[in-house]
Amino acid sequence: MRTNKDNDAVKHNLVFGLPTNESDLWIEQAWQESSHKVHQLHQRVGASFPHVVQDGMYQSESPQWWTAGFYPGILHLVGRESGDPELRQSANECEIRLEQVLGDPEQVDHDLGFIWLLTGVATYKQYGEQDSRRRSLLAANLLAARYNESGAFIRAWNFESAHMDTRGVAIIDCMMNLPLLYWASEETGDPRFAHIANRHAHTVLKHFIRSGYSVCHTVEFDPETGEMLTEHGGQGFAKGSAWARGTSWALHGFALAYGYTGHAAYLQAAEGIADFFLASLGEEIVPVWDFRATEPHRGAKDSSATAIAASGLLELAKHSSRGDFYRQEASRLLHGLHVHFSAPADEEGLVILGTVHYPERRSLNVPIIYGDYFFLEGLAKLRGYSGLF
Ligand code: GLY
Repeated sequence: MRTNKDNDAVKHNLVFGLPTNESDLWIEQAWQESSHKVHQLHQRVGASFPHVVQDGMYQSESPQWWTAGFYPGILHLVGRESGDPELRQSANECEIRLEQVLGDPEQVDHDLGFIWLLTGVATYKQYGEQDSRRRSLLAANLLAARYNESGAFIRAWNFESAHMDTRGVAIIDCMMNLPLLYWASEETGDPRFAHIANRHAHTVLKHFIRSGYSVCHTVEFDPETGEMLTEHGGQGFAKGSAWARGTSWALHGFALAYGYTGHAAYLQAAEGIADFFLASLGEEIVPVWDFRATEPHRGAKDSSATAIAASGLLELAKHSSRGDFYRQEASRLLHGLHVHFSAPADEEGLVILGTVHYPERRSLNVPIIYGDYFFLEGLAKLRGYSGLF
């Protein structure tokens, strides 16, 4: 039965030429509610870098942290529609603070793509700002410089670790950073950036994707010879397990790489990983943080994996011969997040039950900024947004 909220949504959609189907009304409702919460959050935090919600409020991180692009990315997503100049201004202030990080190569990791696609590239694409183009190309150069030619991989992190030599470590999440390199090649006409992205993606196909299309989080190579040494559990449960968010990074990342290159192997990988993700999820909306975690470690869930996968499925749907199926599944997941996993109206954050790092017991079952970003991005795509990555 239609509620008053549904009737308001129909009126709104008629005015703006959006779908008025009964079954799609939730999309508009979810977008309007989320957009309202983003404006409220912005009123409180302005230009900063919120990361996870504790006791109903977002806590901020430093601009060095890999998640620093998601909040300005949210401001761009919401601001492009609401036209609120204050959102654009705060996103711009965040971008200027992020530029300072680029001045020290030892402060930057492979996450430059996450950070700069959602800030500099977004600003350049939306408003043609030349400073944003310059900063984003600098970030792309720093990302390309992380390429290890012997092993054909992009180095993930700089930090020293007692457990492994991080000079030789690559991680599945980096698939989401490759679009910065593809963008840089398109923008400059110089193919080197795309060459590096493709070499890295081929290494991922070879060493990260298992038969059956589960993926590992971390692979260690000999940094001198490039020989593959071993996989590690990383943020997953163990070697051989299937970290849920890593699965969704891989799904989404390969769908994007296919969109840029048209390489059939990337499409096949994206479809295989999507089928693995959906089969592992079954009737659920939000998975346990690792599909293969065993008791007593199944108490933490990860809604960010669902949000990232849903937006990735919408990307995949553009290219796959089974596009209708992937689009329906994306819609089912986003609807499920909206109906069953929305954060309370009087608390910050959009989607509850995300998990940052279970093995280190960091931020379990809380709203996280990248879960919120990809939830909004998925909704925006259902409303016709073509995506930024
Ligand atoms: N890129 C790190 C994570 O997904 O937690």
